[in-house]
Amino acid sequence: MPQQNTEILAATATGIARAAQLLRQGELVSFPTETVYGLGADARQGASVAAIYEAKGRPSFNPLIAHLHSAEAAQRYVVWNATAETLAQAFWPGPLTLVLPLRDGHGISPLVTAGLDTLGVRVPAHPAGQALLQALDGPVAAPSANPSGRISPTTAAHVRAGLGGRIAAILDDGACGVGLESAIIGLAGPEPVLLRPGGLAAEQIEAVLGRKLAQRDAGDPLTAPGQLLSHYAPGAPVRLNAAKPGGGELYLGFGPGDCDLNLSRDADLAEAAANLFGHLHRLDALGKPIAVAPVPDHGLGEAINDRLRRAAAPRD
Ligand code: TXA
Ligand code: MG
Repeated sequence: MPQQNTEILAATATGIARAAQLLRQGELVSFPTETVYGLGADARQGASVAAIYEAKGRPSFNPLIAHLHSAEAAQRYVVWNATAETLAQAFWPGPLTLVLPLRDGHGISPLVTAGLDTLGVRVPAHPAGQALLQALDGPVAAPSANPSGRISPTTAAHVRAGLGGRIAAILDDGACGVGLESAIIGLAGPEPVLLRPGGLAAEQIEAVLGRKLAQRDAGDPLTAPGQLLSHYAPGAPVRLNAAKPGGGELYLGFGPGDCDLNLSRDADLAEAAANLFGHLHRLDALGKPIAVAPVPDHGLGEAINDRLRRAAAPRD
């Protein structure tokens, strides 16, 4: 694809207006959310959505999330229900995506849903991301703004390193606070399903719903987010649950003790989530194998371990 000059836009009124203008014109704009930086396109413009897949080099069977400024805006595109209302009231804006049936006359490009009759909708909390969605007042399809299969970006510098020259602009507003992609809940079937653990712990969602979430059927390729096991992968091999590094390995720690970088010296899972992708980027840049300390599997640890397993999976 042709190289272009990637504008770096500040999160000011001028920068946000420019970002919205570029989206309207069908260009690709990376923008901050509280989870990771997204690679946005107007979800109603098929050619723009196609350009996302091209810029990322992403397999086209993977559906994208539509970002909206409010639950009211989301309801223009999906069939709402009581569970969606409960979760939206509790957690939006925030790191939660709801998958719901598409509404008649939705106007969303089928490239966004990869031909499914459901749509993932999310209302992000980041002020600059929110301001952009309000300025556009339309649905923005956005996967994480990294080349397919690479580590998700939590700073504008990560985005520029991966996609600079391939997209029109990056709206730069510093580092993402949560650091893990949104939790995805499927609400199109008979019971709520955890499709992807993420930056909102499943236990918190279950507490609000007053019931356990069903687990997704790992055999179903269409509703299996993160379908490709080796996703979020650094260039170097990654070894998990390592009590200590082997010879030649860098050590990504968790909790007290010696290491090259620590996810959280205090063993705080929220801090570890916010540091995860940034630390993987930094260790990856050193070009050596990475050993990772064990991380407990409760709360945000479930999503952290999910991303770590993908980082460590055999490459295709
Ligand atoms: O935090 C996030 O969710 C970030 C930021 C940018 O918002 N976005 C993100 O998008 O992680 P992406 O494209 O990397 O992951 C979206 C996941 C995919 O794994 C996809 O399979 C799933 O959402 N997904 C989207 N629409 C779906 C649908 N209709 N049914 C089932 N899964 C869906
Ligand atoms: Mg991604």
